[in-house]
Amino acid sequence: MNPELSEDIVTSELRDRILVVTLDHPPVNALGIHVRRGLFAAIEAAHTDPAVEAVLIVGAGRNFIGGADIREFGLPLLPPSLPEVCNRIEACRKPVVAAIRGAALGGGLEIALAAHYRIATATARLGLPEVTLGLLPGAGGTQRAPRLIGAKAALDLMLSGRHVDAEEAHALGLIDLIGQTDDVLAEGLIYTRELLAAHAPARRTRDAAGLDDRAASRAAIEAARAETSKKSRGLFSPLKIVDAVQAALEQSFDDGLRHERQLFLQCIDSPQRAGLIHAFFAEREVLKAPETRTARPRRIASVGVVGGGTMGAGIAVAALDAGLPVTMVERDEASLARGRAHIEKVYDGLIAKSRMTPEDKAAAMSRWTGSTSYDALAAVDLVIEAVFEDMAVKQTVFAELDRVCKPGAVLATNTSYLDVDAIATSVSRPADVIGLHFFSPANIMKLLEVVVPSQVSSDVVATAFELAKKLRKVPVRAGVCDGFIGNRVLAVYRAAADYMMEDGASPYQIDRAVREFGFPMGPFQVADLAGGDIGWATRKRRAATRDPNARYVQIADRICERGWFGQKTGRGYYLYTDGGRVGTPDPEVEAIIDAERERAGITPCAFTDEDIMRRYMAAMINEGANVVHQGVALRPLDVDVTFLSGYGFPRYRGGPMKYADSVGLATVLADIREFAQEDPLFWQPSPLIVDLVERDADFASLNQSA
Ligand code: 3HC
Ligand code: NAI
Repeated sequence: MNPELSEDIVTSELRDRILVVTLDHPPVNALGIHVRRGLFAAIEAAHTDPAVEAVLIVGAGRNFIGGADIREFGLPLLPPSLPEVCNRIEACRKPVVAAIRGAALGGGLEIALAAHYRIATATARLGLPEVTLGLLPGAGGTQRAPRLIGAKAALDLMLSGRHVDAEEAHALGLIDLIGQTDDVLAEGLIYTRELLAAHAPARRTRDAAGLDDRAASRAAIEAARAETSKKSRGLFSPLKIVDAVQAALEQSFDDGLRHERQLFLQCIDSPQRAGLIHAFFAEREVLKAPETRTARPRRIASVGVVGGGTMGAGIAVAALDAGLPVTMVERDEASLARGRAHIEKVYDGLIAKSRMTPEDKAAAMSRWTGSTSYDALAAVDLVIEAVFEDMAVKQTVFAELDRVCKPGAVLATNTSYLDVDAIATSVSRPADVIGLHFFSPANIMKLLEVVVPSQVSSDVVATAFELAKKLRKVPVRAGVCDGFIGNRVLAVYRAAADYMMEDGASPYQIDRAVREFGFPMGPFQVADLAGGDIGWATRKRRAATRDPNARYVQIADRICERGWFGQKTGRGYYLYTDGGRVGTPDPEVEAIIDAERERAGITPCAFTDEDIMRRYMAAMINEGANVVHQGVALRPLDVDVTFLSGYGFPRYRGGPMKYADSVGLATVLADIREFAQEDPLFWQPSPLIVDLVERDADFASLNQSA
């Protein structure tokens, strides 16, 4: 470590009798080793310097402190540790004030809690989001926060990981004062001078009275434990947070700190921490697609949507929610009215749940206009087409867009599978055509695949990433192929699930195994939710071009032939009685499966849940590797983010490629080769996996390179 670096990063300046300690470690003043050393040294100096009567800690730039330096987790710890820094601050005999602007998160808030007084500007955001990284506040946060604001409020903060604004932080008692202006230094100095004038003592959070009502604290801890056991199924750190707060109640402050440390180290060592932190960085890496570095986005101040069905309406809501005016074009007045009604239904649902006011709805709807004429799109900056999944229909729509849209307008398609290059051939300006693949419901699902056809210009790609930011979506750059990243990989692991069903596993067992792994739903529940008719139509369309040697399971066709399309028809793989959304196993479906096994000459065999997940994941990983190998995804992390944001992959496992690394690629390859003995056509090892195993490398090694 270079001692000079700490001095550059943490600077101290005596203003009057106040030592102003400024942390300047862009982008978010994370508490890496240099910051910790600098801060520790500054407090030591303040402690001994008779000219200093108080200390004021501020962050340079937009934030106070974004937390511990996440990049250091898993590396050897260099002293002083963050708990040591916090304890040093709290032990200071002179008043220490934290002045907060922007983020004071995780270790950042823990530093503020260790200080004796806290002031924040109106734009501050405070929180203990460690749980989202598989951790708990490990620098005294689990001990100080409950003492300061009570067990119930502290548990809520730590278990939800949510950020609170200055007003709420003040109401909770997390901060003492909200500054009048955004000038954090000036506000901090005024406050510290007032404290000095009032001879305010070094008031220590460890002595605060938030846990003094022991009965209420115990009740809050018990309630949190019961709820966490239910809600945070499969997660490691939430219950450790509850344990740490219990220690705060039952043990001395110092023993509680020691207990917190032990629990924190257990979390650090857990694979869930590795998965969640991978997800954190991967979600930021996907934003850096090559075009975003080289091209400037076009200005998007208005959006057109063609089609007001499931997707068109959802996309319109996403754009309206971002404050953009939306022009919707439909085939006829009746369809347009349905499109508008779809949008209003979303807002009415939010009003019913008190998550929106009727006034907000009126404001959003005032930005919406509808038309049955393409001419209404003449002035918009970007159009998203969401009509039927049919190449001829889409090409006709694009020819119309070519006719009416102004030069420079971005022309996007929401197709799920179709060739975006072929769609681009229907216009005179293919450089403006791009795929924007939203997921259903489009106003809620975070994933946006940005599908990049061969002729599109870089600034259009950059515009798509900018739009994603406006719409609060997670964009992943994908190349053109059947199904892009997500649906292409989905098709393969869905087939693996169908094969297992025909070979002897019931759909209910498969769904259960997949849920136990951490997905919110199994593949057959998803099929019932989405509606079996869509997949059936696709299978019929593709029947003529299907490889005759490829295994084809007909069970889904038998179910669809009976008109059982899932939830909307009351039965699919499951039975849904009284319009319910929770299905029960259907003996008639089991009979259909038995009959199909017999027709195919298959003697059913038993699968354990582990067998099921080995195959399910091997299929997902293998196709994920193919997608990377063929350049459809830039890196393995792009596949991970696709599955985390669009397909319910358990976040704590980091995504399928991260999971593969944690299992070991050699093990995955051995599984694929074992399964290939039964079906060599389906189970062809991806050349990328073979290559990585030969080189003793992993997917992570490819994440840096694009
Ligand atoms: N450590 C290291 N790097 C961090 C970081 C952290 N705590 N927080 C953010 N960064 C990096 C990001 O990776 C990104 O890097 P890049 O530019 O190379 O991609 C850069 O800082 C900017 O981050 P954002 O794009 O997220 O910037 P925003 O302005 O949108 O948001 C933020 C700022 C609200 C601070 C957000 O970054 C954030 O939520 N950070 C994580 C906060 C957190 O979880 N803190 C707890 C850490 S664990 C802890 O403190 C343990 C302790 O209890 C012992
Ligand atoms: P939908 O059937 O609900 O809606 C399609 C709408 O397009 C209908 O309202 C129809 O009236 C309208 N339409 C058809 N031809 C038109 C034309 N020439 N001009 C104007 N409007 C026209 O279909 P859905 O589900 O919304 O799908 C739309 C597109 O989004 C498809 O390409 C689909 O593959 C894709 N998609 C669908 C997803 C889903 O889960 N439903 C997810 C992601 C993409």
